[in-house]
Amino acid sequence: MRSARAVAHTNIALVKYWGKRPPAPGLPDLNLPAVGSLSLTLDRLRSETTVGPSDHDLFTLNEGPGPADAAAKVFRHLDRVWQAAGHAAARPPCRVASVNHLPTAAGLASSASGFAALTLAAAAAFAWDPGRAALSALARRGSGSAARSLWGGFVRLERGSQPDGSDCRAYPLHPASHWDVRLLIAHTAKGPKPVGSTDGMQRCRETSPYYGPWVETSEADLAAAEAALAARDLASLGEIVEHSCFKMHACMMATRPPLVYWNGTTLEAIRAVWQARAEGLVGYVTSDAGPHVKVLCPSDQADALAERLRAVPGVQAVEAVAPGPDPHVEVLP
Ligand code: PMV
Repeated sequence: MRSARAVAHTNIALVKYWGKRPPAPGLPDLNLPAVGSLSLTLDRLRSETTVGPSDHDLFTLNEGPGPADAAAKVFRHLDRVWQAAGHAAARPPCRVASVNHLPTAAGLASSASGFAALTLAAAAAFAWDPGRAALSALARRGSGSAARSLWGGFVRLERGSQPDGSDCRAYPLHPASHWDVRLLIAHTAKGPKPVGSTDGMQRCRETSPYYGPWVETSEADLAAAEAALAARDLASLGEIVEHSCFKMHACMMATRPPLVYWNGTTLEAIRAVWQARAEGLVGYVTSDAGPHVKVLCPSDQADALAERLRAVPGVQAVEAVAPGPDPHVEVLP
């Protein structure tokens, strides 16, 4: 094997992924989503991962020792890539160094860019190139949203229907240059989320009365969002973005016990965006399995909306991020 480095950018879902298909009998858990999703890859916010030979498995995160639970996930994923590359023999020991250029301390997920960069770096280190579609399906095994970070710009992750997951992969819809939009990220809390997305999704599927309707209505949201995106119709896209977000959170809140990822500031920040919109500014909110508020807006509205968000008590920081590029992979000497 050789050493390789990959840089992959994180993404934010405009039409959300929430919920997994239960594993088919006799097959391993392939991490198959119950719904498709549509995302925007982000500029600047990225993971940079190097995979190379070593005399024992070693994982560093942000230049320090990686936490044991993260290391276990990383090496389990390396095993998947090694086996997918067709090797029957045991995987050679590897050194994995990952650096997140993301405000992880503020609780923004690094799993999307992290597993995308790890998949790309590992495949290159193992001198295996099955194409980005196959690598997207492999990245999905680590984290659903990671499948979308294999491309820049606007990306769709197909739900697929095959039990073996072969048709469950992302594909690019439009490059970053398609639309001069911004995503504002308003940080409303520090620290990790209380319930991880895998546990939350399972609990939601098992107990939320809204889970069935959530799954049944998602394909229509995707089709409408895709059409609005192609037409660069922000009013139509924004309406679906907000609907998908609130429908997901309603489904989460109706879980037993309830899954409430928001705090008081989350709601105040959402209200501030809606108030700004009533006054003529253009921006649409979304939020994931955490308390931060993200706002999709035209680039010329970003400064004014960011100012409104910074004025909300409890908002700690606001950053504006442009659509981001494809990942980058290089084999190291
Ligand atoms: O990729 P995961 O397993 O961390 O799940 C991501 C789920 C959401 O962020 C809530 C929505 C999404 O589509 O990214």
